[in-house]
Amino acid sequence: MSSDEKGHLYNLSNRSFRLRGTRITEAQAKATEQFWDQFGIIPDHQIIPAEIFPNSREIIMEIGTGMGEATAEIARAFPDTGFFAMEVHRPGIGSLLARINEFQLTNLRLINEDARIVLEEWMDDNCLDAIHLYFPDPWHKKKHWKRRIVQSDFVDLVYRKLKPGGHIHIATDWVPYAEWTQSKFDEDKRFIGGVIPKPDFRPLTRFEGKGLGKGHIVTDLKYKKG
Ligand SMILES: C[S@@+](CC[C@H](N)C(=O)[O-])C[C@H]1O[C@@H](n2cnc3c(N)ncnc32)[C@H](O)[C@@H]1O
Repeated sequence: MSSDEKGHLYNLSNRSFRLRGTRITEAQAKATEQFWDQFGIIPDHQIIPAEIFPNSREIIMEIGTGMGEATAEIARAFPDTGFFAMEVHRPGIGSLLARINEFQLTNLRLINEDARIVLEEWMDDNCLDAIHLYFPDPWHKKKHWKRRIVQSDFVDLVYRKLKPGGHIHIATDWVPYAEWTQSKFDEDKRFIGGVIPKPDFRPLTRFEGKGLGKGHIVTDLKYKKG
């Protein structure tokens, strides 16, 4: 199902996610078996969002959906929007498929691959209205900063894939990562934006809940492609 089985399409030295075991619960495995064919996309061909969601008013990609609680809530609240849920870990894919079934959602497609590879290799430029990046792995230690997904080349990739006037919405509970993100986007003068108040539509995510429990401060950032 994922490229892991074909032998890691992504460059492991540059991975932006933590390696985890592939242990999957019975419920996640069952949901994957039942619903993957309907909602999953294997990135081995060009993915044309407007063909997949022909009647959607907007098309949004969420990168790193985790267990997918927030993803499913947002998709339920915006039935006229098409969502691509990108997650490298299979348990998260299984959890989100179970939620899709529970909420009877039709406006989501799941891709079990590094979002950067899918965007670069399998999606056209100017094809997304928005990108959501909620609580990316913070990579606290300096020697791991190169793993942070927000890098200058990622900012450029986001720019190319957004439609003119499109935006990226990022949330993090790690203040140094918020500052890092601001510096990377400020360097690219083609984006306009910065810190915003938490929008009402963004539900509390699992990772955010853990951060708040540790007393972390959450920052929302939004950058628009000019
Ligand atoms: C810290 S978790 C946050 C999950 C969720 N957004 C939340 O707030 O609960 C970050 C997630 O991003 C995923 N991830 C990291 N890099 C990714 C990439 N390049 N493509 C797709 N998913 C990625 C990780 O596997 C992980 O599940």
